[in-house]
Amino acid sequence: MQEKLQALQTEALEHVEQAKTLADLQNVRVSYLGKKGPITEVLRGMGKLSPEERPVIGELANKVREAITEALDTKKQNLEEAALNEQLKSETIDVTLPGRPVQVGGSHLLTDIVTEIEDLFIGMGFEIKEGPEVETDYYNFEALNLPKDHPARDMQDSFYITEELLLRTHTSPVQARTMGEYKGNKPVKMICPGKVYRRDTDDATHSHQFTQVEGLYVDKDVRMSDLKGVLNQFAKQFFGEEREIRLRPSFFPFTEPSVEMDISCKVCHGEGCSVCKKTGWIEILGGGMVHPDVLEMAGYDPEVYSGFAFGMGPERIAMLKYGVDDIRHFYTNDVRFLKQYHQA
Ligand code: PHE
Repeated sequence: MQEKLQALQTEALEHVEQAKTLADLQNVRVSYLGKKGPITEVLRGMGKLSPEERPVIGELANKVREAITEALDTKKQNLEEAALNEQLKSETIDVTLPGRPVQVGGSHLLTDIVTEIEDLFIGMGFEIKEGPEVETDYYNFEALNLPKDHPARDMQDSFYITEELLLRTHTSPVQARTMGEYKGNKPVKMICPGKVYRRDTDDATHSHQFTQVEGLYVDKDVRMSDLKGVLNQFAKQFFGEEREIRLRPSFFPFTEPSVEMDISCKVCHGEGCSVCKKTGWIEILGGGMVHPDVLEMAGYDPEVYSGFAFGMGPERIAMLKYGVDDIRHFYTNDVRFLKQYHQA
C-alpha cells in the first residue's frame, strides 16, 4: 500500500510536470485528487486496514495528497505567469513606430505675405487700419479727387451695388477715412491691407477680387524723399539688400506728383531677361505725394500738412517673390499649391 502511494505521487508529479496548459493541469488534478481518484479511493478503503496500518497509511496518503496539491498549485502559478507574459509580449506597443501623419492646416500664402508687409511697416512706425469693402462712391472716388464723370474712373471698372454704393476698387478710400478720423490736426502714419474688387475678366494676371496694401503718411514737412526712403527700405527688407528701386512718373488723380515704383529684376539683376520683359525692372506699386485737394477734403490744411501715399498688390509681390505664374492659384485653394508655402 505504501509503495502504491509513493508510485502514485511520483506518477502524479510527473503528469503535473508535463502539463502544458491550465486545462491539462485541471485534468491532472481531477484524475488524482478527484472524488473518483486513486487517493480518495485509498482514503476510502482505510476502514479495511488493520488498526496499526491505518494511521501510517492515513498520514502517508495525506502527505501524498498535499505534495500533489502543492505541485499543482505551483505549476498553476507558473502557467498563469507564462500566459500573462505571453499576452504582454503579444500586446506590446512599439513606441518607436512613426505615428500616422495628421494633416495640419497653415496660414495662406497671401496672409503670410500681408503679415510680412505689415511687420515691416510696423517696424517703421506705421499703424494698421481697416476699412469697409462695401464703400460709398464718396470715399472710393470723390474724396480722392475723382468727381463723378471723371474720366480716370475708367481706370477702375467697378461693381456698383446702388448709385452710391460699390465694392471698393482699391484701398485708397481708407486714406480719406483715416484722415477724417484724425480730424486734420494729427499726423497720420498707417497702412491698410484688404480686399478690393474690379470688373475684370479673370486670367493669369487679372482677378475680379484681389488684395491691396495702402500706405499713407501725413505730417508737417513730409517730402518725396521720405516716400523714396520708406519704399527703398521696404523693398530691400522684403526682396533682399541687393535689390534697387526706381521711381517713374505716373498719374493718379489723388497724388501729385504720382509715381510707379520698380524693383530691379532678381533673375538678371538689371541685365534684362524674360521675367522682366528685357527691361531689368519690375513694377511693384503706385504712389505719390497726397494731392492738396485730397488733404483739404479730409480736413488737413495743405499749407501746413503734406503727405505721401502708395498702394501695392500682395498677389503680385508674392508672384514675384516665389515665381508664381498665375494669380488664380491664390484663390482656387489647391492644397498642393498652398502647402509649398508654409512649413507645417
Ligand atoms: N489706388 C491706386 C490703385 O489702386 C494705387 C495708389 C495708392 C496710387 C495710393 C497712389 C497712391 O491703382
